[in-house]
Amino acid sequence: MTIRTVKKAIFPVGGLGTRFLPATKSMPKEMLPIHSKPMIQHAFEEAVTAGIEQFIFITGRNKSAINDHFDYSYELEKALSDKDKRIQLQETSGWLPPAGSLAFIRQREPLGLGHAVWCARHFIGDEPFAVLLADEVYLDKGFLKQMVYTHEQTGHNVIAVDDVPSEDTSRYGIVVPGDRNTTSIAIKGMIEKPHPSEAPSNVAIVGRYILTPRIFDFLEEGHKGAGGEIQLTDSLAQLVKEQDFTGLFSPKHRYDCGHQLGYLEANIAFALQDDPKKVTSLLKQFIA
Ligand code: G1P
Repeated sequence: MTIRTVKKAIFPVGGLGTRFLPATKSMPKEMLPIHSKPMIQHAFEEAVTAGIEQFIFITGRNKSAINDHFDYSYELEKALSDKDKRIQLQETSGWLPPAGSLAFIRQREPLGLGHAVWCARHFIGDEPFAVLLADEVYLDKGFLKQMVYTHEQTGHNVIAVDDVPSEDTSRYGIVVPGDRNTTSIAIKGMIEKPHPSEAPSNVAIVGRYILTPRIFDFLEEGHKGAGGEIQLTDSLAQLVKEQDFTGLFSPKHRYDCGHQLGYLEANIAFALQDDPKKVTSLLKQFIA
């Protein structure tokens, strides 16, 4: 088996963000800031750190702020440049990848995560690729790189996993566990959002995937699953019958920003990382 390097990443950003209404009525959820950067930029930076060179965003209507964020902003840059504000200029567009490395595909209908990933099939072709769900936010930007490394060493599909409380299994894809050690677990199957009484474990899929293109053959069938949506997890459950899967346990500082409390936690964690002294003393005032 020839193992190819992972150079492409898919960012499904077409969701409606209903858990954050009214904030997300006219603004994409993925543009909500965590500390100074929008959620999507945190995920993008992880991909860059992992060596990804082509970035494919699966968007929808009302998401054009994401396209604009990954483009030059001429008026702003002219104003900053006239005032010689170099740091702000760097923050505005110094981090943008070379022209031609970003693609934006309209999903047209929010039919589910599996459908969103399938929409990128022509851009991925016959290569392994990453999927990053921007509402899972990792403080450590290096985890995706470890996942890519694991794929390139083994050829396995690699999925980020985490132990979650039993009562939370219905929020996640949950894996059927095989052998486990402190950093990884063999995955034997998976099921999308099972009720705690039906969950095969409490090991959840947490928003980062390295997959082989074979997944598209299963996604192509377009079966609807949990919540009436075309679920990525259902196609993974078919793929696991013919290819190996490794789950890598995510670092401790992972924040599920699909929920308001996780979003708040992420903001505190990034602020603490930036200025531990000031933020700790600020937090103490709230607790006192
Ligand atoms: C999606 C996936 C689910 C995964 C979760 C991680 O669900 O379908 O398998 O565990 O992301 O956040 P969503 O949160 O989009 O409902």
